[in-house]
Amino acid sequence: MAAVNALIRSRLASDVVLINQISEHIIGSGGKRLRPMLHLLAAHASGYRGHHHIPLAALIEFIHTSTLLHDDVVDESDLRRGHKTANALWGNAASVLVGDFLYSRSFQMMVELDDMRIMRILADTTNRIAEGEVLQLLNIGNADTTEQACLDVIERKTAVLFSAATRLGAVLAGLPRHQEEALARYGLDLGFAFQIADDMLDYVSDADTLGKNIGDDLAEGKPTLPLIHAIANSPPAQAASLRRAIESGGLDSLEHIVSAIRDSGAIEFTHAHARRYAESAKLALTDLPDSSAREALLFLADYAVERSL
Ligand code: IPE
Ligand code: IPE
Ligand code: MG
Ligand code: MG
Repeated sequence: MAAVNALIRSRLASDVVLINQISEHIIGSGGKRLRPMLHLLAAHASGYRGHHHIPLAALIEFIHTSTLLHDDVVDESDLRRGHKTANALWGNAASVLVGDFLYSRSFQMMVELDDMRIMRILADTTNRIAEGEVLQLLNIGNADTTEQACLDVIERKTAVLFSAATRLGAVLAGLPRHQEEALARYGLDLGFAFQIADDMLDYVSDADTLGKNIGDDLAEGKPTLPLIHAIANSPPAQAASLRRAIESGGLDSLEHIVSAIRDSGAIEFTHAHARRYAESAKLALTDLPDSSAREALLFLADYAVERSL
């Protein structure tokens, strides 16, 4: 991870000052570096002994970071990684454009690896992420969004990048297809678990712990699993006010909504849902030979759900 972080730093460079300022701001604010970590661990667990996992891990973090810059514009968020967002500090235009810089930098790094299989996987992945974010946009304000529609969004906007990160570990090592698929499945299920837990934390955590403002999803009228479950499992009056909250957006009734969500059992339901994905992720690693990297992957599946940050 030290090598990955060093590469991330050195490849941020541009002679355009604003690019350095904004990318330094978001990358320097930290972040868990979970996707690059998963890639390195998947490569190690696959027995890879080369050096390409370092640039791949770095460029996967660049893709992730560019989606965050874009996402905070779309979500009108003003806190990320415990700091003001780039859009809050420099405005939407600068954030979108620097997001494009990081995104295209990741493709420069990809091309340097000169491996068509890797490029295809990452091109397909980034295209799916874009679809996920657009699909989600279509659900905004729609209180009739189904659980399945939420899961479709989660798969694309979040899970596919986790899946590419772990699949690419197996690809580097040249593992047989069924083992590659197992690592891809692990990453996908972990990604589902991670995002479902994130949707729960948006209602039960606090900004100091999470480094993001809570209630962001409600504020923009975004239907996520806790809300959808609460609508289906609340008395009519509460259900109606939850529906209104999605339809109108805004945070006027955050406290009221959070208690309605709690009373309906939606927090436990969402947590259990995330747990099922984490267990399924761990199961996917059954046939992988024992190693400390495999142990760490098993640990991270639980972490994705039990984390507070
Ligand atoms: C945030 O991802 C976006 C989601 C998929 C919920 P992370 O929680 O991994 O963000 P950082 O990189 O640690 O800040
Ligand atoms: C995370 O989006 C997924 C992507 C950035 C593609 P969210 O909007 O759900 O995540 P946070 O809460 O802003 O990190
Ligand atoms: Mg967001
Ligand atoms: Mg979003």
